[in-house]
Amino acid sequence: MKIYKTRDYEAMSKKAASVIASQVTLKTDSVLGLATGSTPVGTYKQLIQWYQEGLLDFSDVTSVNLDEYRGLSPENDQSYRYFMNHNLFDHVNIDKNRTYVPDGLEKDSEVACRKYDEIIERVGGIDLQILGLGHNGHIGFNEPSDCFEKTTHCVDLTESTIEANKRFFEKEEDVPRQAYTMGIQTIMKAKMILLLVSGEGKAQILHDVICGPVTPNVPASILQMHPNVIVIADEAALSKIK
Ligand code: F6R
Repeated sequence: MKIYKTRDYEAMSKKAASVIASQVTLKTDSVLGLATGSTPVGTYKQLIQWYQEGLLDFSDVTSVNLDEYRGLSPENDQSYRYFMNHNLFDHVNIDKNRTYVPDGLEKDSEVACRKYDEIIERVGGIDLQILGLGHNGHIGFNEPSDCFEKTTHCVDLTESTIEANKRFFEKEEDVPRQAYTMGIQTIMKAKMILLLVSGEGKAQILHDVICGPVTPNVPASILQMHPNVIVIADEAALSKIK
């Protein structure tokens, strides 16, 4: 694991964007594993800016997102498809037909998950996976549990995740209770992983992820076993690591 400390969120975002930009520059047909949430928003903004300045080309890039709420349509402004369109895809020259997000409207969860795994297989796996970190150590929506789930699966979101995500919804009842998420094995098969963490509120969990035991109770701790992980985190998030 390589850990880079940045001054603040802005600097974290710029450094993360540089890693993604070099990936896309060196391998123009990269498969990017993408995340939603507040953490990567600044990174995506920076990528958009560099694209607008003519420094980046996404025309041959494919993307697969980590997760999607079960039951939300792509048009729902809280769906992760909507988030990705709004925060990145609508502003760069990526071919939207090659941007994949689990199908939140597929009611049959076995079908939804199998189809998503087939897509990831078909595109040849992930070159660079971007991850944010949940307050409970989740990556994607792989919530703390007594085992690591391997492939795409349907999860019941924990109360802490519902609590953390309710800020995006009008009422807490509107937060979906389930999601489809890429599994841990799929994430771990990515050639390179970029974990982004910002803010004091994540300092303890980031400490546990990096310094604690590898356990499905802290799903991101599995990243200790991956040969090519870059952590970019700000000073506040790294404040509990000596
Ligand atoms: C989002 C995702 C989640 C978030 C995590 C952190 O696609 O998979 O694991 O990365 O919940 O969210 P933020 O960045 O909002 O703190």
